[in-house]
Amino acid sequence: MAKPKVFVTRVISERGLKIIEDFCNAEVWQDELPPSHEALLEKVRGMDGIVSMLTDRIDDEVMQAAGASLKVISNHAVGFDNIDVEAATARRIPAGNTPDILTDATADFSFALMMAAGRRLLEGDRYVREGQWKTWSPSLLLGVDFKGTTLGLIGFGRIGKAMARRAAGFDMRVIYYDPLEPRPDPDIKAVGVELDTLLEESDFISLHTPLTPNTRHLIDSAALAKMKPTTVLVNTSRGPVVDPEALYQALKERRIFAAGLDVTEPEPLPPDHPLLTLDNLLVTPHIASGSKTTRDKMSWIAAQNLLAGLKGQHLPNCINPQVYAK
Ligand code: GLV
Ligand code: GLV
Repeated sequence: MAKPKVFVTRVISERGLKIIEDFCNAEVWQDELPPSHEALLEKVRGMDGIVSMLTDRIDDEVMQAAGASLKVISNHAVGFDNIDVEAATARRIPAGNTPDILTDATADFSFALMMAAGRRLLEGDRYVREGQWKTWSPSLLLGVDFKGTTLGLIGFGRIGKAMARRAAGFDMRVIYYDPLEPRPDPDIKAVGVELDTLLEESDFISLHTPLTPNTRHLIDSAALAKMKPTTVLVNTSRGPVVDPEALYQALKERRIFAAGLDVTEPEPLPPDHPLLTLDNLLVTPHIASGSKTTRDKMSWIAAQNLLAGLKGQHLPNCINPQVYAK
């Protein structure tokens, strides 16, 4: 029997790639940059499966281009705002993602961003490298405290809860607001509040919500205006959850203390973007899930979802289980 044909939009970790290449006739996009939408439309033609990255827009046009052979879309990410899930469901194509295994790596990184922005780590590093370190100073690069402060989590899913567990070790109070659905957990000390309360009371605000029409620019100028001047904002979710213009103004006018962003709008952030002129902004290139073992596991789960779809089995991690409804 001929092996199923699949298109993998980037070179992923060997652990998953090997499984895919053993089972399938796989074409793997080798460039460092993702395929353009046109290239994607071309490459998916006649494919049985697609392994996509968060940088690939998998819309109805792509599914149409793949044609009737397409049996599965396996997204190598937990977030799936890059996929038109409704279109996939309408075509009865199951789509998969890679939750759980990246929860801790992502929470670790979010916490690191929060601490680095709050304690001005990168400013300190630049200060030393630029030759400005002449002596110890009682007032040099003063940051904010963590103990006894309030961490506000917007999004209280797996990653939000992992943040709450870390915060307990720092003696922080945790409050949360979930834009999707209340997902309380009796084992975690955290109190659900209204969004306004969270914005007003939090010393640190960390975003862990998917990007949906409801969360796009959830952090806009009105939301930023409710925050304290000492608040540190962290975003490891999706860039467009924060209005970049509004954030620029708030940081520039020191209406909040600092921000740490692992995701931006646009993404990538061009080097001449106004946000990059600010010393109270720390930005990293969407690497929160980027530990070696986590990326190995992500590739493995992406491979499992793909293979299940190709065999007509239920995807272990399916984002549109409605496709299985009779
Ligand atoms: C990364 O942003 C992911 O969604 O996995
Ligand atoms: C996903 O969005 C998560 O919280 O794991």
